[in-house]
Amino acid sequence: MSLKSAPDNLELFGQQIFHWHLELSSKCALKCPRCPRTELPGRYKVTEMSLDFVKKIFAPERLLYVKKILMNGGQGDAIYCSDFIRIIKYLKSAKRDLQLCIITNGSYKEKEWWQETAQVLNKNDIIIFSIDGWDQESNEKYRVNSHFESIMEGIKTLRQFNSEIYIVWSAIIFKFNQDKIDHIKELAKSMGVDSFNVVQSRLFGSINPDYIDPNLGYDPLEPDKDFIESSNTNRGFYINFTKRFAGVTINPTIYKFIKEYEKDYEDSYISPLCRIGERGLYIDAEGILYPCSWISHPFKIQASKRRNKSIVWEKSLFVEHKDCFDLKKHSLEDVIQHPYWIKLQCSWLDSKKAFVECEKHCHQSASKRKINILMKKINNANHKKTLQAVKDYRREIES
Ligand SMILES: C[S@@+](CC[C@H](N)C(=O)[O-])C[C@H]1O[C@@H](n2cnc3c(N)ncnc32)[C@H](O)[C@@H]1O
Ligand code: SF4
Repeated sequence: MSLKSAPDNLELFGQQIFHWHLELSSKCALKCPRCPRTELPGRYKVTEMSLDFVKKIFAPERLLYVKKILMNGGQGDAIYCSDFIRIIKYLKSAKRDLQLCIITNGSYKEKEWWQETAQVLNKNDIIIFSIDGWDQESNEKYRVNSHFESIMEGIKTLRQFNSEIYIVWSAIIFKFNQDKIDHIKELAKSMGVDSFNVVQSRLFGSINPDYIDPNLGYDPLEPDKDFIESSNTNRGFYINFTKRFAGVTINPTIYKFIKEYEKDYEDSYISPLCRIGERGLYIDAEGILYPCSWISHPFKIQASKRRNKSIVWEKSLFVEHKDCFDLKKHSLEDVIQHPYWIKLQCSWLDSKKAFVECEKHCHQSASKRKINILMKKINNANHKKTLQAVKDYRREIES
């Protein structure tokens, strides 16, 4: 099961440890209607990580092996974590070339807060702002409760106090903005961001009828079908305004892992993307460790498309045996050597035992497609109309 020749000791008991994903906070000031925190309240605890907890997990000797920490999460927003600045200061002073990638809605922080953040981060770090509109009214069509003025102030301040941080403006395509995407792109450019990311979502009525408005008989947020995520597209479409890219990229490390991984999982039912670090090892705001964030997302019931197998949320591994994965109670070594962690890893190889929660994203056919996209290293077009470029990109990755 364990990779036979892990590159550069970036594994601990068969678990990659160079790429992490932290949910610093499950708090949020917004109420985006299709965010799990809005859709499934009560299935997660509203809480946050403390500096002491982060120091315990990322002691300097462990940080030696850590290349990237994504600060995103399933139910909240990192910037509302009370210890946010203390945590990034600790991590960046312990390891200057560590890459932090922070994804945020960007609302309601003061200029001084952004100034301090700008002064901690450096050229290796990325901040991604999730902004789907071009002013207060349009952004609130999905980002309910957001505060456009403070988001713009945040971007401006980051740029003013640090010209090196890589800033991304990320917009999901909805019906209300699909004819304004080039306008949003120009606004993003004028704010001095490095890149514009166009996201194609699957959370629409034609895929999940729960999103159809019973009064209208359709989903008012749903864009044209060309802009709904196909299983091949993912979030990878970027239009870069600047030539530079953030200093650290973990892709070369992933490429090294892929060779061994392809041998280990050649005939397996699941090809786990978390094993090669394409997905970061995930800790939620409560301190529970998961192999990736996908498996942490709350749900009601999940059914396999290929097998006669389903699971209800209350009976899923990380709900029933949550305590075994709790990093506030156990060390990282103990959690990843626990029989339940090993049970999950062994299940990937067996089509009868494979977890439905893993199958959804990492069935071997899906993983193969994702790895192909990663290896293709497609350069996004820069000069076309954005939506035409999105269509061309889809064609290229599907070919
Ligand atoms: C739960 S959010 C947490 C990070 C941060 N609060 C934010 O919204 O960017 C995680 C990711 O989900 C994305 N997201 C929210 N609603 C979405 C939707 N309807 N379709 C696709 N992605 C969505 C966000 O843009 C973000 O990239
Ligand atoms: S800003 Fe992010 S965490 Fe907050 S409600 Fe929206 S999607 Fe969820």
